[in-house]
Amino acid sequence: MAETDVSKLVIEDEFLSSDQQDHEQPSTSSTRQTVKRKQSDDDGDDEDSDSNADQYLKDNTHGKVIASHYNTLEEKGIYERTKSKIFYMRNYNNWIKSMLINEFMAKLKEKSWTAPVRVLDIGCGKGGDLLKWSKANITHIICTDLAEVSLEQCEARYKKINSKKDVKKPFTAEFFACDATKTRLRSKYLDPSIELDLVSCQFAFHYCFETLQQAECMLKNASECLRVGGYFIGTIPDANEIMKRRVLSKSEEFGNDVYEISILWETEQPPFFGAKYNFRLDNVVDCPEFLVHFPVLEKLALKFGLKLVMKKRFEEYHDDMIKSGRFLIEKMQSLETYPAFNKHYQAEQTDESYSHAKKYIDNKMKYGNYRRPFRVGTISQSEWEAISIYMVFAFEKIKT
Ligand SMILES: C[S@@+](CC[C@H](N)C(=O)[O-])C[C@H]1O[C@@H](n2cnc3c(N)ncnc32)[C@H](O)[C@@H]1O
Repeated sequence: MAETDVSKLVIEDEFLSSDQQDHEQPSTSSTRQTVKRKQSDDDGDDEDSDSNADQYLKDNTHGKVIASHYNTLEEKGIYERTKSKIFYMRNYNNWIKSMLINEFMAKLKEKSWTAPVRVLDIGCGKGGDLLKWSKANITHIICTDLAEVSLEQCEARYKKINSKKDVKKPFTAEFFACDATKTRLRSKYLDPSIELDLVSCQFAFHYCFETLQQAECMLKNASECLRVGGYFIGTIPDANEIMKRRVLSKSEEFGNDVYEISILWETEQPPFFGAKYNFRLDNVVDCPEFLVHFPVLEKLALKFGLKLVMKKRFEEYHDDMIKSGRFLIEKMQSLETYPAFNKHYQAEQTDESYSHAKKYIDNKMKYGNYRRPFRVGTISQSEWEAISIYMVFAFEKIKT
């Protein structure tokens, strides 16, 4: 098991303010415990499925496998979602995406770019980020994804969000299904001469590193309509972290009860493109993915006028953002309360999974000014190990 520093994911209860309780569903109990968690306003994709491994072995066309995987994900009700082992991880990932979107929307404002703000979301899935875009006050969004069923759900979610009475400013949207690693997206836009301010590709960009051609097609799509000074932002697994964990585990299969990675490339060193591994995340993802060799990405991106301006592991991004994002991390229910009320931790987690939080409290009680035991907001060790595989990136479009 890789050593990851989960201790930073301990936040004192003072910041788990009464607001969190305000966001919970009415319940017979007044405790802030696992069963009565509410789906966060900013909830992301609601994915759940059986393994796609057998199909993967029969059908080696990755696009088809990936599309079929995401297309067959069921919509689960709130209760089902809250039973998930990765409830807080999903909310935490949504918090990271919110911070990233808000950070780069703010940068556009600094450039005095006000409305209209036009966005492209590549690999939008079921529209897990639509509410974030709505809150960011964008003008127009182009949503595209390989999985047609997900895209239909994304469109339905858009209609729901935009029809809400309290929506501050409705935004327009267009939707189309296609493989962004093989198709020129511009030819599908309602207005192919559109100038985009922001392009976002969340938890999806790594699929393009199957071949050089696919990576180039994806980057061309990200850059082609982006105005100079605009940003391309995203989240991907960090290839170095995966390699590090592979070495530490001394095995081609490693992970924990939440995630599992199986290395599928056959050479000692992974190739720059097509470095395939299978990624399983609880019941949510079970799909072939590709390592993104970041130095190669950086060089390729420059070819398409995209200059790297930010690259951080989630861990580092957390440190930079937690001060300004404290209110939101709580509002989005991204942290679990420890010790749990009635020892009711999320699915299959035990006290052991929170030993970092226990240590934090014990130390404070021993050396700090604390007279009474107190509660903290944290995340289980297994979820943190899965979260900390990822990184955020941002490129700026430059004149070429
Ligand atoms: C993990 S989901 C992320 C969804 C969404 N971006 C989010 O953050 O909630 C990955 C998405 O990428 C999409 N995807 C994978 N390969 C793609 C491709 N070649 N072109 C377009 N979308 C793709 C999948 O269909 C899936 O919806």
